[in-house]
Amino acid sequence: MSATAAVTAVPALEAVGVVKSFDGVHALRGVELSVRPGEIHALLGENGAGKSTLIKIVTGLYGSDEGEVRVGGEAVDFANVRSAHKAGVVALYQELSIVPTISVAENIVLGEGAPSVAGFVDWKELRRRARAQLSRLNQRLPLRRLAGSLSPVQQTMVAVARALMADAKVLILDEPTASLTDTEIGDLFTVLRGLRDEGVAIVYVSHRLEEVFELCDRLTVMRNGRTIVTKEVADSSIDEVISTMVGREQGELYPDRGTAGDEVVLRVDGLSGRRVQDVSFEVRAGEVIGIGGLAGSGRSELLRLLSGAQRRSGGSISVRGETLTGRGVGRALDAGIALVPEERRSQGVILSAPISENIAIANLRSVSTAGVMSGRRIAQLARRGLAELQIKANGVRQPVGQLSGGNQQKVVLAKMLARNPRVLLMDEPTRGIDVGTKAEIYRLIRELAARGTTVVAVSSELPELIGLSDRIIVMHEGRIAGLLDAATADDELILTHAYGRDA
Ligand SMILES: Nc1ncnc2c1ncn2[C@@H]1O[C@H](COP(=O)(O)OP(=O)(O)OP(=O)(O)O)[C@@H](O)[C@H]1O
Ligand SMILES: [Mg+2]
Repeated sequence: MSATAAVTAVPALEAVGVVKSFDGVHALRGVELSVRPGEIHALLGENGAGKSTLIKIVTGLYGSDEGEVRVGGEAVDFANVRSAHKAGVVALYQELSIVPTISVAENIVLGEGAPSVAGFVDWKELRRRARAQLSRLNQRLPLRRLAGSLSPVQQTMVAVARALMADAKVLILDEPTASLTDTEIGDLFTVLRGLRDEGVAIVYVSHRLEEVFELCDRLTVMRNGRTIVTKEVADSSIDEVISTMVGREQGELYPDRGTAGDEVVLRVDGLSGRRVQDVSFEVRAGEVIGIGGLAGSGRSELLRLLSGAQRRSGGSISVRGETLTGRGVGRALDAGIALVPEERRSQGVILSAPISENIAIANLRSVSTAGVMSGRRIAQLARRGLAELQIKANGVRQPVGQLSGGNQQKVVLAKMLARNPRVLLMDEPTRGIDVGTKAEIYRLIRELAARGTTVVAVSSELPELIGLSDRIIVMHEGRIAGLLDAATADDELILTHAYGRDA
């Protein structure tokens, strides 16, 4: 970016004193945001701070109650997403907005209206246009394939290509890397830097602060629906951003490790699935086992096999000496094994149902007496979840779909934690969750462990893997490549095993 040009230019996007409430609850209380052409601008804040709401307002998905949005210096009031699109303001929402059931080419050209000849869709022209946008991104994708069959990063690229098709002047990405691997994130960053250098203003929302400091030029921190600060990334630090976000100094992130009991709670013997081959290990009561490894190494599959969500092709699982017979999630749950899945929004909650019901469904036994559910106990259980995980909600009756992305994730965690399982399996326990709550989740995991629960957690974040675990299993190509003591493990040692280079 040419710094002088950027400073003098009219902002590509501005929000001035934007206010928005939902049924009397203030989501935005006067937000200020100013994004220059040719910069990548991070928008940061805790879960529920108002980031996604602001994005939905500047892209015409919601109207605001007060304040002004300006594009290229002109006040705008978009009636819908289409008119924002026309003005060159495009967002990739937290819930990725490709249409899985139509082709890649159609997804990219969608919104433009398909080219036609004599009333028929001109497929050749449609594909030519789609290809042209993808080549701007240096991407080659199978244009006729259904978009839903692509990998997450490819789907993101399709969404970016569609944004470019609209000749975006402002491109907004709301947590685009949540489901991407490190190499895929690298590819996306290359694309974003290229667009920035072409003069596109990019707004980037992420809870991964290392990523923000690598990619972004400036940052704005929001708290409780207000803008707290905007500054150059080079003049800031991760610690400073965290304390601005949470409004206080961050205490210790990781709790002390506990002492494991003697009893072996989970025993896995020669477990195999599709990718996973011949995996054996034991976990004792009160132990937290971290599972590391590269994407595709079999980490998530291992958890699915343990939880009964995927059929095992061989091997055995036992809980407190009792071998798991039969198949399916129900059997595993009965044996005390519960999984918090990676894709929480689609697998973990019913969006239209209240928080309390979502938590109660998983805990019917603890909220009923002689088969009758107690409304009071449901509410109690839910309120405890709200408090423990600092879920930002209107009350336990609020539908989960109305919560911010990160708070929806927390509901799934609350639901599983309330089950008090013997074996708690967690896939990326803090993905999409703000730094302030991370410490809270680590503390809860330790508390469960102290009460005798066995925890097995997959994490792609090495500091988390080391900080949270007692021991770490590193997977490589479906097998266990290393079993490490977390107290003495470091990034390098974990990666050596993850790449299968320990021999
Ligand atoms: N449709 C809605 N109805 C009611 N409340 C809503 C709705 N959408 C958002 N909110 C509320 O507005 C507040 C801000 O939510 P928003 O989604 O903007 O947060 P966010 O900063 O994007 O958080 P996250 O990091 O978790 O994605 C939250 O308290 C949320 O519950
Ligand atoms: Mg959000």
